[in-house]
Amino acid sequence: MPNPAAPGLLFAFAAVVLLIFVSVSPPVWDKISFLKVTAGGGLETVFGVFGMCVKGGVCTRRRVGYELSAAGITDVNLNSTVLHHLTYALILHPIAGALALIAFIFGLVGIAAASRVSTILMSLFAFLGAIVSLVVFVIDMVLWNVLRNRLRDADYSASLGNANWLTVGAVVALFLSTCTSMLGACGRFATGRAAGEKY
Ligand SMILES: *[C@@H]1O[C@H](CO)[C@@H](O)[C@H](O)[C@H]1NC(C)=O
Repeated sequence: MPNPAAPGLLFAFAAVVLLIFVSVSPPVWDKISFLKVTAGGGLETVFGVFGMCVKGGVCTRRRVGYELSAAGITDVNLNSTVLHHLTYALILHPIAGALALIAFIFGLVGIAAASRVSTILMSLFAFLGAIVSLVVFVIDMVLWNVLRNRLRDADYSASLGNANWLTVGAVVALFLSTCTSMLGACGRFATGRAAGEKY
């Protein structure tokens, strides 16, 4: 019989990996992005959690909350007050990742120590991570779609990037982790009295 904490652990691990990829979006790595914008002359700007990069060129400094702009585009105001403030909320991606990591660690302890309490804590942190990642996904959809539409209205090409779908994957993985670890916490624990079932 598989360990009752195992499925929740695997889903939490998947969420950690997905949210790490999201968190190394620009200005760290230009292969991951929420929005891709192309101006004339093939200038492509990609947007991430802590900044943006011109593809194959320079990136902004890494910071929480940043000025929205795109290379080669001066006739569209991207840095409106509301959108600028929403960029601060992007830090919720790594925060959801940290919650998923805590869930994963409690899951490991749950397995190593055959601990029901630890498995319940995994479920709790996976749930918190699920809520935070769901909230930030809703923010992503608002922020990046508004920007994309503004740019398309001005005849620029703009499209949503892979980071949005990695975030969706993390939301799903964290809800699955919550449910499976909750079920796991109700399941049989230690393999016998000798293993010392702990509450
Ligand atoms: C971007 O918008 C914010 C909020 O309205 C403002 O404080 C900031 O100065 C703007 N930055 C630029 C470069 O326009």
